[in-house]
Amino acid sequence: MNGQNPPRISLVDCRLIGQQSGPDLAKRLKLGGRERLLDLGGGAGTNAIAFCQVYPELHATVFDLPATLKLAEKTVKDAGLESRVALHPGDFNRDHLGGPYDVVLMSDILHYQTFQMNQDLVKKGFGSLAPGGRLVIKDRFLDEAGTGPAWTTAFAVHILVNTQQGSCYRVGQAMQWLQAAGFVSVVELEKTAVVQGTKP
Ligand SMILES: C[S@@+](CC[C@H](N)C(=O)[O-])C[C@H]1O[C@@H](n2cnc3c(N)ncnc32)[C@H](O)[C@@H]1O
Repeated sequence: MNGQNPPRISLVDCRLIGQQSGPDLAKRLKLGGRERLLDLGGGAGTNAIAFCQVYPELHATVFDLPATLKLAEKTVKDAGLESRVALHPGDFNRDHLGGPYDVVLMSDILHYQTFQMNQDLVKKGFGSLAPGGRLVIKDRFLDEAGTGPAWTTAFAVHILVNTQQGSCYRVGQAMQWLQAAGFVSVVELEKTAVVQGTKP
């Protein structure tokens, strides 16, 4: 990605997927008591909206490229959440992420980037969190053998063909990014889908 080679899954696709999965993901993460969420590469803001609807005390920031945030602006307005969902335009590989936050969500953004870019971004996420904050990575990971799940192996081919630098990573690689950044209690919360670390 990064302005070079956009994936063929459109933002509208992302929005539809997010509308279906966002509320369930929000509930499963059990974020009660957390007040500040950064939805990094948050696209149309569907996860941020779903999370705010599940947790009434939560305020979210959707960080994305300026052009994408035009869609997010409309989605947030339609949901009536302008007072709780802020929009932060920028390039997450170059710009300051703001903060401090209690939770940073990276949902379906890392498979468009190189291993090293992801390592750097996870470190940046660490820097934007308050002590005790959580970084949650939701993605389509391969298992340690690299041969499953079946859907992800097909998606890995799509990423290989349609991006210049993306890749489907293994769960262990995501845990490695988190540990190298300084996170503790690094866990695979959902098999080949969600990993999380906590800032000490
Ligand atoms: C596949 S969409 C995921 C959207 C959302 N997180 C979700 O799970 O539905 C990837 C998002 O990352 C954003 N993105 C990609 N590179 C970026 C960058 N360098 N800085 C900020 N946002 C970026 C894209 O604009 C897009 O909205």
